[in-house]
Amino acid sequence: MSLLFYLSKASRLGLSRNRILASGELLQRFPSFMSFISSSSSAKSNQLLAVFPIGLTYRSCQLVSERFSASREFVTGRSAENRETREIEQQGQEELNSKMLPVKAFERLPKSVVPVHYEITIKPDLVKLVFEGHESVTLKVVEPVDQIILNSLELELDNVKLADEAGQETTISQVVLDVENEKAIFKLSSVLQPGQYHLKLEFKGVIIDKLKGFYCSKYLSADGEERYSGITQFEPTDARRAFPCWDEPAVKATFDITLVVPKDRVALCNMPVVSELPYEADPNLRVVKFDRTPIMSTYLVAYVVGEFDYVEERSTDGVLVRCYTPVGKKEQGRFGLYVAAKVLPYYKEYFGVEYPLPKMDLVAVADFAAGAMENWGLVTYRETCLLVDDQNTSTQRRQWVAIVVGHELAHQWFGNLVTMEWWTHLWLNEGYATFVESLCVDHLFPEFKIWTQFVTDTSTPALDLDSLKNSHPIEVPIGHPDEIDEIFDDISYHKGAAIIRMLHNYIGDDDFRRGMKLYLTRHKYGNTFTEDLWAALSEASKKPVGTIMSGWTKQMGFPVIRVSARQDGDKRILQLSQQRFLADGTKDENNTMWMVPIEIATSRSPTTPSMSFVLEGEKSEIVLNDIRPDEWFKMNPGQVGFYRTCYEPELLKHLVSAIDQQTLPPLDRLGLLDDLFALVQAGHSSTVEALTLLEAFANEDQYTVWNRVCSALSKLSHLLAYTDHHELLKSFGRKLLGGMTRKLGWESKPDEEHLTKLLRSLLLGRMAMFDDPEVIAEAERRFLLHIKGEEQVPADFRSTVYKAVLRTGSRSKYDDLLRIYREATLHEEKDRIASALGTIKNEEILKEVLAFAMSNEVRSQDTVFVISSVASSKLGRDLAWNYFKDNWDLFNERFKGAFLLVRLVKSLTENFASEEKAVEIENFFKEHHCAGTERTVQQSVESVRLNAAWLARDAESVGRYLTSKSQ
Ligand code: BES
Ligand code: ZN
Repeated sequence: MSLLFYLSKASRLGLSRNRILASGELLQRFPSFMSFISSSSSAKSNQLLAVFPIGLTYRSCQLVSERFSASREFVTGRSAENRETREIEQQGQEELNSKMLPVKAFERLPKSVVPVHYEITIKPDLVKLVFEGHESVTLKVVEPVDQIILNSLELELDNVKLADEAGQETTISQVVLDVENEKAIFKLSSVLQPGQYHLKLEFKGVIIDKLKGFYCSKYLSADGEERYSGITQFEPTDARRAFPCWDEPAVKATFDITLVVPKDRVALCNMPVVSELPYEADPNLRVVKFDRTPIMSTYLVAYVVGEFDYVEERSTDGVLVRCYTPVGKKEQGRFGLYVAAKVLPYYKEYFGVEYPLPKMDLVAVADFAAGAMENWGLVTYRETCLLVDDQNTSTQRRQWVAIVVGHELAHQWFGNLVTMEWWTHLWLNEGYATFVESLCVDHLFPEFKIWTQFVTDTSTPALDLDSLKNSHPIEVPIGHPDEIDEIFDDISYHKGAAIIRMLHNYIGDDDFRRGMKLYLTRHKYGNTFTEDLWAALSEASKKPVGTIMSGWTKQMGFPVIRVSARQDGDKRILQLSQQRFLADGTKDENNTMWMVPIEIATSRSPTTPSMSFVLEGEKSEIVLNDIRPDEWFKMNPGQVGFYRTCYEPELLKHLVSAIDQQTLPPLDRLGLLDDLFALVQAGHSSTVEALTLLEAFANEDQYTVWNRVCSALSKLSHLLAYTDHHELLKSFGRKLLGGMTRKLGWESKPDEEHLTKLLRSLLLGRMAMFDDPEVIAEAERRFLLHIKGEEQVPADFRSTVYKAVLRTGSRSKYDDLLRIYREATLHEEKDRIASALGTIKNEEILKEVLAFAMSNEVRSQDTVFVISSVASSKLGRDLAWNYFKDNWDLFNERFKGAFLLVRLVKSLTENFASEEKAVEIENFFKEHHCAGTERTVQQSVESVRLNAAWLARDAESVGRYLTSKSQ
């Protein structure tokens, strides 16, 4: 079967025998190999495949595959449907990822010994920043073994003992630390027979400041003393830094955790406290023992020790929900608490499965790398993703807090109760939670109209990334931990969420819910592959979900559907064809096809599709009945499908007039623009055409549509900064946005809609970046009052005001802002300022901003914001990139192995626009290898080349067009 895994793709590709390079090892393992190859000898002979030696990592396979121009998908190909086969395939993947390796070895932990239960005691010292601990792990030995292998990283191990149920010890002859592979190997003096054993050991470690493992987070006490709290962040693979363990998502066990902590500190863990006793050896400490967890993955274990206040509420389904905040700020926890307490019963009802723990704690943490982390029963958050201050939190931020809470709580079911089998299926966690967060926010805050924001915030970024040749399939082979960070990206989150939304729409909410309930009930406390989700949804909907969806998760990219039409009486005959959409406009050589659920709306019924079907092959002819020649039709109403549409010019013209008359619903107006911009980037359409379309939006009144208009303008602004037409573009932007900006003004009206508030902030902010004199003057007036303490600028305008005053700003404005930064106690305010600093146009000050970003005044998780803000202008981008290169060692030391580095690299590089820069970036990262950023670098370099090609193609005609508009 395993061989089938290796070769199923080969046969589908139609490979010939003599073109297959087989390794000796492969033949040895699969003696039937040759006969298999013979049986496929009818295949075409013009294709080449490398069958990689067992043991190459995925990345090395890629290297080899580049060399042989073989199919990279070969190593990912899986065709089998049943679970048993899938497990065998999984082993195949592991084998492929294991042993002899030119690049980085990787092997999953052997399944011969598995943990059943951990008893762990941790005693942190939050002054010396070290911890010690001991654990007793109940093990099940499945087959005879002479060694025990588990994960351990940067821990000092001592006193390792192994005994059977009767207390009989087996001598451990050697403890080997395999640092490279983050493993500890306990060699045994005799062979251990199957049965139950107890492994006991002691360990010591450092509470690092790297935002992972058991790490420290700095805060100031009421009297200004610097103190540290101890926090855990284990996902994806850092539990092994805190205690030796089988640190893989599929190796689930129960945990009894005990913390020995100072008497006056709050100690939290996944479960509630069962006992608190004095610590005999030291009267200043106490021993806090927590209840046993359900069976769970190591990456979800969490504990926190520090000083906090909290607010609490019991949800209607009986869960005790608490929101922990910094001391003195508990009121800022009310909003998050409200959302959490409402969302738990909502999910219980939606999924039809209970939240299994008795409590849910939400904790705001000062130093935190991600936005939030879904540890079971103890969700940790960046302060800015949880705390809401009535006076100082913007509407946008408040909405974001609701989303983050909704997202992390969705993981309590999706991720925690049912967990992906391996990181390849990370999207099951993240894509799904990203979809569900909108479900719950829509339920709690219908006024946010969150589904209208889904397209701009979720689908578009995914489509953009996925149109690159260096994208990756949703299901991506993962071996070494270094490779995991990079897939917490727009593909796993946003493409994942977007295809679930497409599927939800295709099977309908009732079947979707039923399928979810089936999936969660069937797999609770277990692990799943993507196919398990499809199987449940298929059963519930009686539709071929797996057949349709596997193309979307196993293949990278998505199709563009080309549409032409002719009228025939009162019918319209449409010709549809699909092809992979590539951002560089080239043709997809692999001729990838998808099964595309398609809907079509017409002007008679703009929001309810008049036609739904699945496009299966390359081409199809569709007949729309009852449609007059002057009536329009639009593909993909609501932009629910994950594809782009390219209309023939005549059809597009029809639709543009529907924008003007606003007969086309908002998301469809937005969708036309979105698709057209993508086609422009690919050179299938001209930028002038897109600018003409933009003008049709001058009277637009919807936030989401404006959001897309503004991001289109800012992309053009980035590009045109490299030409002489930048000022013309800004003036075009001012004209386009001016009417609506003035209409909304600076004062919010009582009872104004949520989206109107967002729209006002968006437009004012954009106008400031277009150097609109009126907006800048008003911003300066308000800023003056603000710093004099006479009248506070409302939180919704602060970002705009700060950026605006810096646009024309002198050093004194910069100093004013730094002062507010230093005085601010709300993290959100600090971030707002930090992200505005790069707006200043003065080169000397920009250099200071870069140094400031790396100073101890900026928490390392926020450094990326500051540097990205500098890198958002042409001048700043050069400065920031040079600064990064010059200080590489420092950056590498601080961010190595953290996804923050991935984000930094992306924002620093992707907006350059010349071949020369593309080469420079490529060369720099060749010389400064940075594990875990390889794909991001390739993506950025590709984007830079796309930008350069765009300019070469269109800069001149855009210049002429903008000049004609300015007269
Ligand atoms: N599981 C992630 C947190 C995470 C991210 C852990 C990267 C390890 C590496 C969490 O559920 C998450 O997705 N957080 C998001 C916020 C969310 C609302 C999109 C984040 O941190 O950006
Ligand atoms: Zn998540």
